[in-house]
Amino acid sequence: MAEIVKKPVKITETVLRDAHQSLIATRMTTEQMLPIVDKMDKVGYHAVECWGGATFDASLRFLHEDPWDRLRKFRDGFKNTKLQMLFRGQNILGYRPYADDVVEYFVQKSAANGIDIIRIFDCMNDIRNLQTAVTAANKEKAHAQVAMSYTLGDAYTRDYWMDLAKRIEDMGANSICVKDMAGLLVPYEATELVTALKEAVSIPIEMHTHYTSGVGGMTYLKSVEAGADIIDTAMSPFAMGTSQPATEVMVETFKGTPYDTGLDQNLLAEIADYFRPIRDEALESGLLNPKNMGVNIKTLLYQVPGGMLSNLTNQLKEQGAEDKFYEVLEEVPRVRKDLGECPLVTPSSQIVGTQAVFNVLMGERYKMATKETKDVLSGKYGATAKPFNPEVQKKVIGDAEVITCRPADLIPNELDTLRKECEQWIQQDEDVLTYALFPQVAVDYFKYRQAQQTKVDAKVADTEDGAYPV
Ligand code: CO
Repeated sequence: MAEIVKKPVKITETVLRDAHQSLIATRMTTEQMLPIVDKMDKVGYHAVECWGGATFDASLRFLHEDPWDRLRKFRDGFKNTKLQMLFRGQNILGYRPYADDVVEYFVQKSAANGIDIIRIFDCMNDIRNLQTAVTAANKEKAHAQVAMSYTLGDAYTRDYWMDLAKRIEDMGANSICVKDMAGLLVPYEATELVTALKEAVSIPIEMHTHYTSGVGGMTYLKSVEAGADIIDTAMSPFAMGTSQPATEVMVETFKGTPYDTGLDQNLLAEIADYFRPIRDEALESGLLNPKNMGVNIKTLLYQVPGGMLSNLTNQLKEQGAEDKFYEVLEEVPRVRKDLGECPLVTPSSQIVGTQAVFNVLMGERYKMATKETKDVLSGKYGATAKPFNPEVQKKVIGDAEVITCRPADLIPNELDTLRKECEQWIQQDEDVLTYALFPQVAVDYFKYRQAQQTKVDAKVADTEDGAYPV
C-alpha cells in the first residue's frame, strides 16, 4: 500500500482582526481580547491576525485606545504564536499613498512592537505600490506576505493571476495570499486558481475569503485539495456571514485526512465559549446586525464586498435616498469599469462606491467627481489592469497631467514635516505614525490621553495628601 503523504493545512485565526472588523465594525476592545490570549496561544495556529486593517483607525476613533499599546500587549501574551497584520501597501493603514519614509518607518515600528507577518496588498494590484513595504519587511526580518486582491472581470484571467504571482515571488515576498474580500471565488474556480498558482510559484499560498456569498467553506476545501498551504478562519461566534468560515468547522472537515490540522477541538470549544457572550452582547446592543450573519447572494451579482454594501446603505440613508439603493448598486460596476476595472477593496471600494452614489444622486454621471476619483484617473493610485475610460477621464480631469510612474516617486519624504506638526503631543516614537495616518483623529486621541494622565496624576496627589492627615 502506498504511504499517504501528510500535508496538514495551517490555520490563521482572524477573530482578533478581520472577524470583528467584518461583523461588528471593528469594535472589539483590547480589554475584551486579552483574557483569552493565553488560551489562544496554546492552540498551535500558524498565526493570529490581530492588527492592521481598520483596527488602527477604529481603536483611536471609537475606542480611545492606542493601537500600538494593544499590539505590545498581544506580543506579551502570545509567547508561541506568530502575530500577523494587514497592511495597505503604500497607503499603510490609511486612505492615501504615503511617502516611502513613512512606509518604511511604519514597517520598522510594526516589527519592533511584535508583528511577525505583514500581509501587504494594493487596491489596484499594482506591485510598484508594494515594493517599499516588502523591502522594508525583508530588512526587518519580518515575513513579507503579498496579497493579491481577488476580483472578477475581463482582465482577470488565470494568466493574469499567474503572472502577478510570479512577479510577487520575484520581488522578495515570502508567501502569497489570495485575498477574496467579497467571497467571489467559487469552489471549482478555486481548484483551477490554486493549481495554477502552485505551478507558477514555489512560495506558500494562503487563502483568505469571506462567507458573504455562502461558498467560503467549500472554496477552502477545494483550495486545500489543490495544494493551498494556509487558510484564514474565525472562531465560530465571530465566523460566517460577512466574516470568515469557522475555525472549528474547517478543523473538523480535515480531521483524519492527510490535511488534518491537528488542532484540539476541546481547546477551541473553550475559546468559543469565551467569545460567545461577546457576540450575544453585540447582538443585543445592535452592534451586530443579524443581516450580516446570513448569506447575501447579491454579493455575487454585484461583486460588492459586504462592508461596502453597508457603507452604501449608510451613505444613502444620510442623503434620504434609500430608494436609490439598487440604482447605485448597478452603477458600481460601471464606475469600476471606468476606473480601469480595479478590485474593490480599501480604499478603491470607498472611492468607487462614493462616486457611484454621486453619479446617481446628481442625475448625471461624473457631473461631480470626488478628489479621489480625480486622483485615480490621474494615475495617483497606480496602474490598473485595464485602461481608464478615456471619455470619463477627459470629463473628470480635463487636460491635467496623467502620471505613469510609481506614484510614490512623486511624494517627497514627509516624516520630518509630520514630526514637527505633532511635536507637542509626542510621548513615544510611534505617535508620529499615528498622526501621519489620521491627523485629526490622532490629535483628538492625544488630547484624551493627556486628560486621562492628568486625572491619574491628580488621584495620586490626592492619595498622598490623605496619607498625612492634617
Ligand atoms: Co478580509
